[in-house]
Parts: sequence; structure tokens; C-alpha cells
Amino acid sequence: MEVIIRSDADAAAALAARLIAARVREKPGLVLGLATGRTMERVYDRLAAMKLDFSACRSFNLDEYIGLPANDEHSYRRYMDAHLFSRVNIHRANTHVPDGMAADLGAEAARYEWLIREAGGIDLQLLGIGEAGHIGFNEPLSALMSRTREKALTPATRQQNAAMFGGDAGRVPARALTMGVGTILDGRELLLLATGAAKAAVLAKAVEGPITAMISASALQLHPRCKVILDEAAASALTQRDYYDWVFQNEPEWESYRT
Ligand code: F6R
Repeated sequence: MEVIIRSDADAAAALAARLIAARVREKPGLVLGLATGRTMERVYDRLAAMKLDFSACRSFNLDEYIGLPANDEHSYRRYMDAHLFSRVNIHRANTHVPDGMAADLGAEAARYEWLIREAGGIDLQLLGIGEAGHIGFNEPLSALMSRTREKALTPATRQQNAAMFGGDAGRVPARALTMGVGTILDGRELLLLATGAAKAAVLAKAVEGPITAMISASALQLHPRCKVILDEAAASALTQRDYYDWVFQNEPEWESYRT
């Protein structure tokens, strides 16, 4: 794992976008794993402005609320259309979001896993982190080997996402379909982006604490190619900051990203 700390949320998102852009240029047929949420909005704004060629890319989103049709204003399909897909030249047929309206959610989860395998697996998975430590909607006690499945959301997560539902946590769907922790760890490269002081405590547990199913993001420590990009506020509870900065300043891989 490598941790890169930038001055603010804009600079952190800019670095994440540059890294994604580099991967798209290296491999035009990149299979991208995508996340939703407020943190990602800045990344998608940047990607849209870069005029990249996504025409051969395929994408798989981490999760979707159960019970919201794709055209619901709060669905993650709608979020993706608004923030990224309608602004770049990705083919809609190549974009995938779990179907939270499927009559058989178990079958939909199995289909989603199959689609990812058929695509050759995810090359680069973008991740945010919830205040309770989730990646995707892998809430506390999600098995570290879990696959795509239905998951009940914690009250904390529904509260965290209430702003998108007029501030009313009761209107946030109680369940979601989400890639599992195991599905996420199968990605060839992982990129977690976190900004803001509200993420500082859980981020420090995920990066520097023990691996535990209580904080699914801690499972990222198992991945051989995982980058964590933070702003100063989200990094404020980390203890090994000097080392992380030294790696960023000295490892050849980061040379073109230092300016
Ligand atoms: C969303 C997702 C979640 C979010 C996380 C952070 O697809 O998978 O794990 O990334 O809840 O959300 P924000 O960015 O809104 O703080």
C-alpha cells in the first residue's frame, strides 16, 4: 500500500484523475471499477474535462441501492450518468451497475460477478471509504472473502448518505447490492480516495490498524497494488506520515505526478 497526501480535496482528486487517465491511455480497453459518492464528484469533473478516449473502456460500479429504479434521481446509475457517463465517450452498453430492482437479487449478484469475469476482471478499481470503514457497501462484519450480494446498510451509513435524500436518513434505502470485499480485492490495481476530517479516524484504522472485518477497508492492506490518496484533513490521524511522503518523493513510479 502507498499513501499519498495532497494539500486539499481538489489536489487529491486531481492526482486520482491523473492516475486514472494514465491507465486509460496505457490500455484503451481498460476495465474500470467505479464508485459513487461526494468524494468522487471532483474526480469525475476532472476526467470529463480531460477529453479522454473511453470508447473501448468497460466499467463496473461497486454498488446500487435495492428498490430504486435506474431512473430514480437517487440511484447510483443516475449518479453515474450525470457525473461521468454522459460527459465522456464511454458506450452506455459497456457500463454496468448492479440492478437494485432485480426480482431475484441473488441471481443478479451472480450475474454481476459473471460479467466482471467475462470482461477479464477489473484493471483499476476506484474506491471511497465510509465513515464506518466500508468500501462499496461492505458494512462492518462483511466477510473479507465476500462476493457481490445483498447487504443491509448500517444506520451510520444511511445517516452519512441522508444529505442526498433531503437530509432524511429514513428515506435512504435500507439495503444495497454491493461487490464483496473479495470481489474488490480481485481488482488488479486499487485506488482509494478519501478527503475531509470526517474520514480521518476511520482512515487511520483502515491503513495502520489491524485487518478486521469490522472495517472492510482494512482488507486493502492485503492487496499488492493499492494506492490511497488523501487530503491533509483525511490524513491527519496517520502516524507514519513522514515515511509515506518520503516514498512519494522518491519512488520512480511517482516521478511524473510530483508536480
Ligand atoms: C459508493 C460507495 C461508498 C462510498 C463511501 C464514501 O459507491 O461505494 O463506499 O465511496 O460511502 O462516500 P462519500 O464520498 O459520499 O463520502
